[in-house]
Amino acid sequence: MQKFYVTTPIYYVNDTPHIGHSYTTVLADVLTRFHKMIGYDTYFLTGTDEHGQKVQRAAEKRGVSPQTHVDEYSEHFKSLWEKMNISYNQFIRTTDPAHIRFVMEKLQELWDKGEIYPEEYEGWYSVGEERFFTEDELVDGKDPISGRPVEWLKEKNYFFRMGKYQERLIDYIRENPDWIVPDFRKNEVLGFLKQPLHDLCISRPKSRLSWGITLPFDNEYVTYVWFDALINYVSAVADKKYTDGSPIWPATYHLIGKDILTTHCVYWPTMLMALGIELPEHILAHGWWLVGDGSKMSKSGGTGVSPMEYMDKYGVDVFRYFLAREMVVGQDSVFSHEAFVRRVNGDLANDLGNVLNRVVHLSAVNFDGKLPAPKTPFSALETELRNAAMIVQKCVMEWIPQVKLSQVIEEVIGLARHVNRYLEQKAPWKLAKDESKKDELAATLYTAAEAVRLALSFLTPVMPQKTAEGLAMLGTSFDGIEDLKWGKLKGGELLQKGAPLFPRIEEEKTEAEKQPKPAQNKPLSAEDIPGMLELRAAKITRVKDHPDAQSLYVLELDAGDAGKRTVCSGLKNSYAASELQDKMVILFANLKAAALRGVMSHGMLLAGENDGKAVLIAPPENAEAGDRALFKGIPAGESRELKIKDFDKIQLKVKQGVVYTGEVPLEINGGPVTCEAPDNSLVH
Ligand code: ME8
Ligand code: MG
Repeated sequence: MQKFYVTTPIYYVNDTPHIGHSYTTVLADVLTRFHKMIGYDTYFLTGTDEHGQKVQRAAEKRGVSPQTHVDEYSEHFKSLWEKMNISYNQFIRTTDPAHIRFVMEKLQELWDKGEIYPEEYEGWYSVGEERFFTEDELVDGKDPISGRPVEWLKEKNYFFRMGKYQERLIDYIRENPDWIVPDFRKNEVLGFLKQPLHDLCISRPKSRLSWGITLPFDNEYVTYVWFDALINYVSAVADKKYTDGSPIWPATYHLIGKDILTTHCVYWPTMLMALGIELPEHILAHGWWLVGDGSKMSKSGGTGVSPMEYMDKYGVDVFRYFLAREMVVGQDSVFSHEAFVRRVNGDLANDLGNVLNRVVHLSAVNFDGKLPAPKTPFSALETELRNAAMIVQKCVMEWIPQVKLSQVIEEVIGLARHVNRYLEQKAPWKLAKDESKKDELAATLYTAAEAVRLALSFLTPVMPQKTAEGLAMLGTSFDGIEDLKWGKLKGGELLQKGAPLFPRIEEEKTEAEKQPKPAQNKPLSAEDIPGMLELRAAKITRVKDHPDAQSLYVLELDAGDAGKRTVCSGLKNSYAASELQDKMVILFANLKAAALRGVMSHGMLLAGENDGKAVLIAPPENAEAGDRALFKGIPAGESRELKIKDFDKIQLKVKQGVVYTGEVPLEINGGPVTCEAPDNSLVH
């Protein structure tokens, strides 16, 4: 049996959990459940990091003992994970006696081997960051990270000989190119390792900090919190085994945020090398959840969106779905209300939920509340749908071990869309009116139901509760890997009609919004349009053929802070897919979304024309995805959704390779938006 041991960071108990913590934990949970689904033996560890200055200070501030504080705050995490249906095997606390014993044992071992040595140290100490800085690291004489004052301290401390592992670590990273994922994070670590690697101070005198693990070889000191915390990944499973009796360590994946890359990719492996313990197989650093204004999200920043609010309002599973689907592992993602509604209403209500409802309803009405058994031999359309489902199954099996989570989910939702299209093509509501077509109706509904069953089954790791309810509507359940094959439904299953599984989020209007807005209702004049066009630089991240329209590509775009988009574009005759991959383009972002042959398109790409072929207009080289393009001297106007006919009120033309409206050029960050088309070519 293949094995999967996944860890999350152990979170500091100086704060209550926020969306960032929820994300890493949901990611670990979903990956664990997926691995289990495809037949792996799994172990999932999470927990809390309870020692150190931050925690001691948080306790002091509340006027309670550190122990009381950590007992209370670790419960906040535990109860959130329970609420979020997180199926961890173990929740470790660094104040667990077994962990403390293990850390002391390992410290003693390193001390005995001479891997740790004492030394007098003098330097600028920052209480906020709990560390020393050298003179040239200071900024205006202050802590370069927090900006707070530093003090000159001289004290004896203990150091771990980290520096001597520098070459070995560099070699290891080079020889194991997928050890740190994604690739650009690996390069970041290699970049860091170009400078000399210093030894690591691993002690704090008790006079300064008492809340920690006492050094076994010097009673006057506690252990530096990271040296204690990282060891949790090994201490937790020291006495644990997989079901076949083999040891759990090494971890298959350490999941971390990009904030703790160095501790995990430099401190941790060198510690393990010194201890003679195997390294983890992979370290995956994901990106940030950002709030709308692009700043890092944390509650302390005051801009935090409380995960509780979305969970309580729309349900745990929908929230899990959003987190798992929206973030492309490795990249940053924007958490915004709009993005949330778009996912829920699009993927879940319109695609998956709709097709489930249709199948259940049509079958129940026409076959006495039961699923029909297939009667006629399958036609090409049924074979196509069945093949599509089996391709998704293959994606799940292949991509989950590579943690391509959002991509897997996208394939599954693509399957739901395929079933919707299939139903449009077969029109079972018409077949139902013709008694002679009863067998064809049965075959259609059966095939659709089986494909929906598979789509729901593939999503059980993401939405355990909702998918179980959906499968119950089809009179079935998910019971293991065998159920990922085609044909579990036999016909005769008792269907449960009911409320839609994924209700659409209908926007509640505030009182102010209910008032008619004169400006909004006013027809737009040609002068209004240039400022109102929300044109943004975007990068094409994925190119697919439109399933139903020969001239269209379905493009995935990354528009930076403006989010990820799917856009259908009629570029087939002008560009090969490979020419579009990773290309920077200009997205008309506030165009009203529209379905193009069954695929929703959220915006439009702008292009001029040359020799009968479309030529995409391009942002200047310094532009980044999400940057707004504006007409020189025209400020951004009122933001509102526009229609094509609004766009048509103005003309965008190419002049000497630059895009203009009238005499006004289109620019990003002062650089022109360009188009390789002849003068006077119209941009559409
Ligand atoms: O660093 N977006 O704990 P911590 C995505 N105790 N993920 C985020 C996030 C955001 N905006 N904010 C936080 C510590 N995270 C140490 C770890 S491990 C041996 C010790 C997630 O409470 C992300 O996983 O500050 C990040 O790495 C972690 O929370 C930091 O949690
Ligand atoms: Mg932190």
